[in-house]
Amino acid sequence: MAPDVSCIFLAVLLSASCEVITSADQMCIEIPDTLPNTTEFLEFGFYFLPTIQDITFSRLINLTFLDLTRCQINWIHENAFQSHPQLSTLVLTGNPLIFVAETALNGPESLKHLFLIQTGISSLEFIPAYNLKNLESLHLGSNYISSVKFPKDFPTGNLKVLDFQNNAIHYLSREDMDSLRPATYLNLNFNGNDIKGIEPGAFKSMAFQSLNFGGTVDLSVIFGGLHNSTIQSLWLGTYEDIESHHLNSAMFTELCEMSVESMNLQLHYFSNLSSTTFRCFTHLQELDLTACHLKELPSGIKGMTSLKKLILSVNKFTQLCQINAASFPSLTHLYIKGNTNKLELGAGCLEKLENLQKLDLSHNGIDASDCCNLQLKTLPQLQSLNLSYNQPLGLQNEAFKVCPRLELLDLAFTRLHVIAEQSPFQNLDLLQVLNLSHCLLDASNEHLLAGLPNLRHLNLQGNHFKDGNIPKINLFQMVGSLEILVLSSCDLSSIDPEAFHSLGNMTYIDLSHNNLTSSSINALNQFKGTYLNLAANSIRIIPPQVLPILSQQKVINLSHNPLDCTCSNIHFLTWYKENVQKLKDFVEIRCATPPSLQGVQLSDVTLSCGITAVGIFFLIIFLFLSAALLIYAVKFFLRWKYQHI
Ligand SMILES: *[C@@H]1O[C@H](CO)[C@@H](O)[C@H](O)[C@H]1NC(C)=O
Ligand SMILES: *[C@@H]1O[C@H](CO)[C@@H](O)[C@H](O)[C@H]1NC(C)=O
Ligand SMILES: *[C@@H]1O[C@H](CO)[C@@H](O)[C@H](O)[C@H]1NC(C)=O
Ligand SMILES: *[C@@H]1O[C@H](CO)[C@@H](O)[C@H](O)[C@H]1NC(C)=O
Ligand SMILES: *[C@@H]1O[C@H](CO)[C@@H](O)[C@H](O)[C@H]1NC(C)=O
Ligand SMILES: *[C@@H]1O[C@H](CO)[C@@H](O)[C@H](O)[C@H]1NC(C)=O
Ligand SMILES: *[C@@H]1O[C@H](CO)[C@@H](O)[C@H](O)[C@H]1NC(C)=O
Ligand SMILES: *[C@@H]1O[C@H](CO)[C@@H](O)[C@H](O)[C@H]1NC(C)=O
Ligand SMILES: *[C@@H]1O[C@H](CO)[C@@H](O)[C@H](O)[C@H]1NC(C)=O
Repeated sequence: MAPDVSCIFLAVLLSASCEVITSADQMCIEIPDTLPNTTEFLEFGFYFLPTIQDITFSRLINLTFLDLTRCQINWIHENAFQSHPQLSTLVLTGNPLIFVAETALNGPESLKHLFLIQTGISSLEFIPAYNLKNLESLHLGSNYISSVKFPKDFPTGNLKVLDFQNNAIHYLSREDMDSLRPATYLNLNFNGNDIKGIEPGAFKSMAFQSLNFGGTVDLSVIFGGLHNSTIQSLWLGTYEDIESHHLNSAMFTELCEMSVESMNLQLHYFSNLSSTTFRCFTHLQELDLTACHLKELPSGIKGMTSLKKLILSVNKFTQLCQINAASFPSLTHLYIKGNTNKLELGAGCLEKLENLQKLDLSHNGIDASDCCNLQLKTLPQLQSLNLSYNQPLGLQNEAFKVCPRLELLDLAFTRLHVIAEQSPFQNLDLLQVLNLSHCLLDASNEHLLAGLPNLRHLNLQGNHFKDGNIPKINLFQMVGSLEILVLSSCDLSSIDPEAFHSLGNMTYIDLSHNNLTSSSINALNQFKGTYLNLAANSIRIIPPQVLPILSQQKVINLSHNPLDCTCSNIHFLTWYKENVQKLKDFVEIRCATPPSLQGVQLSDVTLSCGITAVGIFFLIIFLFLSAALLIYAVKFFLRWKYQHI
């Protein structure tokens, strides 16, 4: 936009109605005086600011980040940001821009990130190009742009992120794409545009970090158009509300003509899936086939030896062997979660995956009466196994012997039947994280955690101890290396004072949502500097002798306990005032008794616990009676003495 165009605009408006312009001038509010001149980071969204002039923000000369989301900005005048040489991020999202002066962005020498999402832009000519030579990311989503052709003088050379999602781009010509050639290794997003045509050669010899054509109805257009390009991450997924064409083997032959490292095809349908479909997938390192309605992967897929990461979540397998894992011998990461059918693990279906490090089988309805040595044989390099949210699993001794390198095991929300005399986790020497939350385990089994010399993080949330008590001899004696222990919602009502004796390295213990009273605090005696969560228990009175135990912790959460705010608890109430900085969520630390103080925050309570009037009354009566008794006794004694003279 040339400045003279703006004059014409103004002139037209002025002649149309002077009043409109005066009232508009009044609407143009200044930024509040309370904002200090030193402000560098300003989120100023949702203020009413229809025009931005050179004086609007001129006071804040050190601004680096300015967010003006939904300020109803229509006009951005000449030199609007001239006093902001440091400005690096400008967010204009959600403003119905009518006019942006050509010199509007003069000033910010180092503008790196410009957000023009939902601003009604229909052409890239609208963006003042001058002075944008350092621009790294340009966000243009949800506008009416139909051509990606940048004006000749637009400096695209430093662009790393260019986001055109949800615009009206249907055709990419060579000329359009040529304007992007100076940018190398771009993240380019055309999600939600439905590209219907690409001129042959448009992407020739271009290299991208990521390219997103999400929601395209006909992917053969894309594959055809990307000839001879190099793409690290190609996102071609679709969405439930889009009826995209089925994918077939012919489309994928074009993949042989480009270089792609990682590809996502989520929610597509394949027709005639066979081993030839994957003929040109041989260079892929990552493949995401989430929700691709797959019942199996064909056997006989050849050459996919580069594939490291495979995502097969939310499909329709019934048996793990249906993925024909042997076709992907180099896999390090395999995710099959949320399968829509109950998944059977079978026997040794993954045994060719010698390099597998991470396996996610959560939310699959898996059950097995004797897990997991047969099913997971043999995964010598497996470090992380997620079997959470499945059906009941029976665990024998050394149930994970076939994956001796496990560091993380997540069994949360999977009911476990431990049929072991020793521990099912025996010999997992490297295991550091074990999530057994909501496994309906009998946590009174003191051998449960035997053989885990390096366990740091144990979650036992929602399991049960016999009679709600953690006795002196218990399962923690085996895991002295623990640092984080979660015992929330375990229905605990007491803990033996010596129950945690073996735990010398604790940093975090969560005992919240139980039924503990202050007598269990003695068990925490040897913890120092821990993050202690005692929220939502039954703690009423905390006697003076346990206060030192609390004092030696770093952070304490005591919220939602029925605390007593009478003089019986005065030691704690005094301690509380002196240690408020240790207590988290102190807004929820409230009195439950006496009734007159119920619901009052502890910080608002002031008690004076001297002797009360009633006390004084009884004391006087007592002294009076004692005196009377003494006089009577003396009298009696004297009389007795005289009688015996
Ligand atoms: C702006 O930043 C410079 C350099 O840090 C400093 O010297 C100057 O006082 C700042 N000015 C304002 C108004 O904050
Ligand atoms: C802030 O900057 C304005 C304009 O540069 C100046 O008039 C004003 O005195 C400054 N205020 C303070 C508190 O320094
Ligand atoms: C692109 O074409 C050139 C020459 O035709 C060729 O050398 C290069 O390997 C091709 N690149 C890709 C990724 O196909
Ligand atoms: C699928 O395969 C069948 C039989 O092999 C063939 O008749 C049909 O044309 C194929 N369909 C497509 C879309 O390739
Ligand atoms: C295991 O899977 C569940 C459900 O998908 C997820 O919530 C959890 O974070 C995963 N565990 C790990 C350690 O990533
Ligand atoms: C189990 O615990 C681990 C470690 O805190 C966590 O990463 C994972 O998300 C948990 N699993 C579930 C299902 O919440
Ligand atoms: C406690 O931590 C220290 C230092 O990290 C470590 O040397 C020691 O072995 C740990 N104790 C146990 C019982 O694992
Ligand atoms: C907590 O313990 C008390 C007695 O110690 C008992 O009356 C109460 O029912 C218990 N509450 C819960 C939620 O278990
Ligand atoms: C304190 O515990 C309550 C109940 O578990 C929890 O909701 C809250 O987030 C905790 N606060 C902090 C700061 O940990």
